[in-house]
Amino acid sequence: MSDERSDKATVTLRVARFQPKAERERPARAGRRERGGSPFGGRRGSSSPFGGAKRVRGRQWTQDYRLELSPETTLLDALLTVKRTVDPSLAFRYSCGHGMCGSDAVAVNGTPTLLCTAKIRDVAKLPSSFPGADDEGFRKTGVPAVVETDADSVTGNPAGDADGPLDLGVVEIAPLPGFAVLRDLVVDIDKMLDQLRKLKPYLIADGVLATTVDGKVDVFEYLQRPEQLKKYEQLTNCILCGVCEGACPVYSGGEAFVGPAALINESRFVNDSRDYEHDGRLDMIDTADGIQACQSVRACSRPCPKGIDVGEEIWQLIAQVRER
Ligand code: SF4
Ligand code: FES
Repeated sequence: MSDERSDKATVTLRVARFQPKAERERPARAGRRERGGSPFGGRRGSSSPFGGAKRVRGRQWTQDYRLELSPETTLLDALLTVKRTVDPSLAFRYSCGHGMCGSDAVAVNGTPTLLCTAKIRDVAKLPSSFPGADDEGFRKTGVPAVVETDADSVTGNPAGDADGPLDLGVVEIAPLPGFAVLRDLVVDIDKMLDQLRKLKPYLIADGVLATTVDGKVDVFEYLQRPEQLKKYEQLTNCILCGVCEGACPVYSGGEAFVGPAALINESRFVNDSRDYEHDGRLDMIDTADGIQACQSVRACSRPCPKGIDVGEEIWQLIAQVRER
């Protein structure tokens, strides 16, 4: 196989599109949103026993975009290519482009993930005729995107043209589950942020006035030993992407469960030795919509892009509440 061929691949991005009905087409409703809030932030929960994200009316369809690119390309770059060269109407959210801001969470082949960290070669589903693909087209563990076949030592996807680029298959991209869709892959995260705010996501502590070497009073110091910092340090990496919420079968953007992201941020302060609201915080989450709603399914742990074991952390919170 030539080097030229190994650099190229084709992939089909199968994107769930959604265009909301224009505001003026929808009937006016009492108690409608405040100015500046989400245009779809009305009452939730009419369709789900858990008070799920409200369905917004509009046109839904699935659109395929076939691209030729390097298998190393991220989904974010692939979608940017679509937007810049094929279809400027495609809407998705992103900011930093490298796993720091948490704004580009979507469902890729049904699994919540960040667009900017998912590479095409890792997520493309292959035709089932491809060696190393399972019945549903997913690549079996350990099988690379490029496969040597015994028959003719040709490398690549048998579904593709031997002289043309490799055909990596299909990537299905849909909005993050559990959130109301505003447009295409953009979801309404206002509810998640409201739930987080309710749990006071800030340090409540008394500092000690530090004195400089020349005896002047300087700033407040919040002293902590390294082993105390270690207890919650990893939790400070949470970027509020909502991936754990999208994976949670209980969270559905409604009132019934504050969701794993809010609980992780609460755990960050519960485990901070400087915070003097420890007991009050445990009271705040010991509610029907707090830890009592968590079913300990632990679906939230695996997809966290910052490596937080979300399910275990919530389990530890539950243990602290019970031991009080
Ligand atoms: S805990 Fe992980 S998955 Fe959940 S919001 Fe924070 S970074 Fe995202
Ligand atoms: S664009 Fe910021 S995390 Fe992906």
